[in-house]
Amino acid sequence: MKLKYDFPLRRWNSFGINASAAVFCDAASLEDLRSLLLRDWQLPRAPLLLGGGSNLLFTDDYEGPVLHVGLRGIEERADGGDELLLRAAAGENWHGLVRYCVERGWGGIENLALIPGSVGAAPVQNIGAYGVELSNTLVEVELMDRDTGNIHSLSAADCLLAYRDSIFKGELKNRVVITAVTLRLSRRPKLEYSYGALTAELQRLPSADRNLRAVFEAVCRIRRSKLPDPAVIGNAGSFFKNPIIARERYERIAERFDAVPHYPLPDGQVKIPAGWLIEQCGWKGKQLGNAACYERQALVLVNPGAASGQDILNLARAIQDSVRTTFDLELTPEVTIL
Ligand code: EPU
Repeated sequence: MKLKYDFPLRRWNSFGINASAAVFCDAASLEDLRSLLLRDWQLPRAPLLLGGGSNLLFTDDYEGPVLHVGLRGIEERADGGDELLLRAAAGENWHGLVRYCVERGWGGIENLALIPGSVGAAPVQNIGAYGVELSNTLVEVELMDRDTGNIHSLSAADCLLAYRDSIFKGELKNRVVITAVTLRLSRRPKLEYSYGALTAELQRLPSADRNLRAVFEAVCRIRRSKLPDPAVIGNAGSFFKNPIIARERYERIAERFDAVPHYPLPDGQVKIPAGWLIEQCGWKGKQLGNAACYERQALVLVNPGAASGQDILNLARAIQDSVRTTFDLELTPEVTIL
C-alpha cells in the first residue's frame, strides 16, 4: 500500500477538477481498506472514500486522506434455474459489469449501461435510467464499518432505496464503506423498453431481434447522443434531481407554460424533468465563468476544460436561483459537493 502525498485528483473525478488530496491511497483488499480506515491520520478531515469519482464535485483541495476502493472480483453465487445471483466487488467498473452480464445473456441491468462510476457507488444513489433502477435487481450490499473495520451485510429492503436515494445518503452516511453488491439476474429476462426514445429504437428492429443485446446497444446509443463522455468533457451526469411535487403545484405551472413534461407517480405526486425547467430559464448551452450547461441536455453541467469546482458551483447556484424565481421550485443537487 503506497501512500501518495499532495496527490492530484484531476484524473480521479469525472468533472476533471484540479484539486489535490493531502494523501491518496488505493485499497486493493479488505485488509488494506480496514487498516486505512482505522489509522490515526492526524489530518483535518476524515477519509474520503472514492469509487469512480463520477458523482462528486471538489470545490477545494481535500485536506484529508482520499482512499480509492479498488476491490475487484465478480462471482456467480448461486444458480436457481432461470435466475442467478451475481456478486461484484465495489471497485469493479459499473459499465464493465453491465457488459459482462449482457455478454453472458444475463438480464436485469442492461438499461443501466454506460452509467459512469463503480459498482460500490451504485446503491448509494440507487442509480437509474431508462425505466430501470438498481432497486429492481439488488439483493444485498456488503459493508465495512468505518469505525470498527467489521464487515456486515444489508438486505436490499434495509438499504431504503428510493429515487436517487438510500440509507447510505442518510443514516449510514460516512459510517460505512460498501465493499460488494449482490444482484439477482435472469437468464430469460423480461426486456424493459417503454421509455420513449428506447421504444423508438427497438421498434425499428424486427421483433425477433429485440433482445438483451439490442436493448443494451440502444441505451448506449441514446446516452452517447445526449450525454457528454466524461473522458472528453468533464461532467458528473445529471447535476440535480428531478423535483417531485404535489399535483396542485404542477397544475399551477401547467397554467403558465405550454406542454410541461411530467411523470405522474403512484403516490399522486408528479415528477418534473429538471432539464426542462433549466432550459426554460435559458441556461441550456450557456457558459458562466469556466463552467457550462451542456447544449444537448440542460441537466448536465460540464467542465469544458478550465473550470474549477467553484466555477461549477457558481453555475449550479445561478441555475437554482433562476428556477426558484421562475417556478418557485427548489432544485436539489444529486452530485456530492465537497
Ligand atoms: N428536457 C428538456 N430539456 C433538456 C433536457 C430534458 O426539456 O435539456 C426534458 C424533455 O422533455 C425530456 C425530459 O426532460 O423528455 C426528460 O429528459 P431525459 O430523458 O434526458 O431524462 P432526465 O429526466 O433529464 C433522467 C436521469 C438520467 C437518466 C435519464 C434517462 C435524473 C436526475 N436523471 O434524466 O440519469 O439517464 O433520466 O432515464 O433522474 C444521471 O443520474 O446522471 C443521469 C444521467
